Parts: sequence; structure tokens; C-alpha cells
Amino acid sequence: MKNIIEPFKIKSVEPIYFNTLEQRKEILNTAHYNLFLIKAKDVLIDLLTDSGTSAMSSHQWAGIMQGDESYAGSSSFFRFEKTIQQITGFPIVMPTHQGRASEKILFSIIGGKGKYILSNTLFDTTRANIEFTGAEGVDFICEEGKNPSIIAPFKGNIHIENLKDFIHEKGAENIPLCIITVTNNSGGGQPVSMKNIQDTSVICKKHQIPLFIDACRFAENAYFIKTREPGYETKSINDIAQEMFSYADGCTMSAKKDAFANIGGFLAMKDPVLALSCRNLLVITEGFPTYGGLAGRDLEAIAIGLNEVMDENYLHYRIKSIEYLANKLIAAGVPIMQPAGGHAVYLNAKEFLSHIPITEYPGQALATALYIEGGIRSVEIGSLMFGKYNKANELIPAQMELVRLAIPRRVYTQSHIDYVAEIIIELYQKRHLVIGLEITEEASMLRHFTAKLKPIKN
Ligand code: F0G
Repeated sequence: MKNIIEPFKIKSVEPIYFNTLEQRKEILNTAHYNLFLIKAKDVLIDLLTDSGTSAMSSHQWAGIMQGDESYAGSSSFFRFEKTIQQITGFPIVMPTHQGRASEKILFSIIGGKGKYILSNTLFDTTRANIEFTGAEGVDFICEEGKNPSIIAPFKGNIHIENLKDFIHEKGAENIPLCIITVTNNSGGGQPVSMKNIQDTSVICKKHQIPLFIDACRFAENAYFIKTREPGYETKSINDIAQEMFSYADGCTMSAKKDAFANIGGFLAMKDPVLALSCRNLLVITEGFPTYGGLAGRDLEAIAIGLNEVMDENYLHYRIKSIEYLANKLIAAGVPIMQPAGGHAVYLNAKEFLSHIPITEYPGQALATALYIEGGIRSVEIGSLMFGKYNKANELIPAQMELVRLAIPRRVYTQSHIDYVAEIIIELYQKRHLVIGLEITEEASMLRHFTAKLKPIKN
């Protein structure tokens, strides 16, 4: 098979600053073993997130110059609105400054004590916004999605039977919303099948529970449907996306992912009554409904990005380049979440560092070791991010201990990825030298952003 080439040429470049192993040890120490506290210039390859880190196209940059910065009725808003209406079919579109602002608005209105929000897996900001209202977020991931080594096409699917049982147990009146995350970021970037979205929609409709889609990576999910789900091989990505959204009543989206924008998001829906309450909150927290926390130029960049991301040459390259990294690691025996996700490769830290107990955060130990070894910044998606404490102050661990290598869109070339694979494989060969960590300071919510840790030395 021929090499799959990057479907773009590079017009503008950004330097990478090199540092040494000794310098990185010092930097990590100063940052209390928390990679969020490291300066970006001290990172060689930044795989912390694919969010807001995309390289925009020349077309998007040209769009930036056409941004209409009018306070009300900006023409950039109407281009933004029309694009989103075309893809999602939702008539009401509200711009927000990023995904979590859409979540904050939506859950402030429908959340509250005694309520349950159901999902395949909620992303951390989504869960935090739900919990902030007093409501509870509950995940129903399918069985295969819980096991990093099972190979299955749609490991992001909702567990339909468990979802039904829960609705019967708690009563639909206590469930104001079900939200499907595509692709399932916290569960390994795994896709959700069209059939699963449709089945969830049937249950939700039966119980009059609105179904929303967390659409951050809708195009990557659509590409997986096209290549993995029978019947979709010849459909366009736009058609598939339209069908995905047709089963839902609304969506939240962070445009920092599949819209190639550096900032932005939106909330879209069908229900004019819910929209009225949302818009009231939008005005006091984000801005006037035709800009909602964004500049006109951002609205342009997002509108253009949303169409660019549905290009199949791009999506083919995108999904295959993630698979390329995954295959190199698998060939060297490195334990990863299989199959590769849409935006990231997830290392299985529980197996990679099987000598480190969960209470010593093997995921964070692995992420920090990768930084020391090669200046690679990744993110722990495990018990540091999702762990809680029981009444006896013992750790209730997360379902999985993963380290995410999120690949920014259109930013790194194949040789960067080859380097990443080299470093991980080298570290795997001397994994027994990596030691566990303990937390010395933490916040009560989203603790992974600011927690301070230190190595446990015997
Ligand atoms: N939903 C999902 C599935 C996400 O991945 C994110 C962000 C959000 C919502 C919130 O969007 O950042 O624009 O407020 N994920 C980033 C990440 C931060 O690194 O995965 P936001």
C-alpha cells in the first residue's frame, strides 16, 4: 500500500524549542509532576489535547479577514448559523465561547438536585457542569467499551439494556436529558454507531427524554460509520452527519475540535421553549445571541472549518495517521486501547506500568515519564482525572487508567509521530524503572488541572 500523505502543504511554521533530559527533570519537578503546569515552550511534541490546537487553513485565515464585527446581526453569524443548520438540521443555533459554555447554559436550565443526565460517557467538563447544578451524570458504556484490549468497531456505544433499566428504576420524570458523546473521548475516542444513536433515540422518544449529541468530533465519528457500519460505504460524510443529528433534539459542540478553530462552540436545538431559556442565559453569560462570546472572525473560521472537516481525503488521512501510531506501538508490544481512537491513541497505563498500584496513579506516572524521556506532553485519563474518595477517604478508582496522546489536527508530520513512537517504545523497554506518584495538593473539582504530585520513593 502507498504512503498516505498529509493532504496539505505547510505555509507558515512554528519553531519547536529543544531541551535536555536534565532540564526536563527540573521543569517537571517545578511543575509538581503536573503536565498542565508546564510552559508550552518547554514541550517538544504537545499531545496534551486536540482542542484548539489545530492548524487553520489559508481559507480559514482569509475568512478571518472577512469577519463582520457588528454587535448585532453580524453577517458572519448568519454564515455560521446556516452552516450548522445545514449539517445538524437544528433550526436554533447559539454561538458560545467554547463547548463547556454550551454545557453550562444547557445544564443550568435542565439540571438540578435529584435529576440524572444519562450518557455513553460524559466528558469531564460535561460531568462537572452537570454536578455543579446538583444533578448526577450517569454513564452507560457498552461492555466492550470497558475493556481496552477488545477489538470492536463501535466501542463508544451506549449500553441500551442498562439505559432502559435505569430509566425504569429512576423514572423518566427525573431524567431531563440523555447526551451521546461522539466520538467517546473519555472512553478512548471510540465511535458510536448509527444504529446505537437510533436505538437510543427510540428509547428516549418513548419516555419523552430529549436526546442531545456532544458533537465535538462528529466528522471523525461519521467517517468511522462510513468505513465500519454496513450500508454507509457510499454515503457522503455530510449525509451521515445529517442522519446522526436527525435522531437527536439538539447538540452541544466545542468548535475547537472538528471545526479546526482555536476557540468557539455552539448550542443548537429544536425546542423553541428550551431555546428561550438558554438564550436568556446566553445573553447574560456569553453575549448577544448573534455573537455569543465570539468575535465575528471566529464565527467565520468555524463555518469554514465545519465544511473542511467533512472532506474525505482529510478524514482518511486523519484516521489513518492515528492508526499509524497505534500500529507501531502494537507491533512493539506496547499495551494500548484498541482499536485506535479517532483523535488520539490511548496507552493502557494499568498494563504498561503493571508494577504500580492504582493508588499511585500509574497513568500520571506514565505521562510524566514520557515527558522526561522525550519532551512529549500527554494527558492522564484515569484515576487522577476521574478518581473520587469514599467516606474512609480511600480512592475510588476510574474505570480505566489511560494516557491519551491526542493528535492536533494538521499540525504534526509523520516524522514527529515516528519520534513519538520511538520514545514510547524505548520507555516501554525500561518501564520497570518508572515509579508511582502521590498527590500533595488537590482541588475538589477537576483536580487534574491543578493537582500537585510527587514521586513515591521507597
Ligand atoms: N465534550 C467533549 C467530548 C470534549 O472532548 C470537550 C473538550 C468538551 C466537551 C468541552 O469543550 O474544551 O471547548 O469547553 N475536550 C478537550 C480535550 C478539552 O482535551 O479533550 P471545550
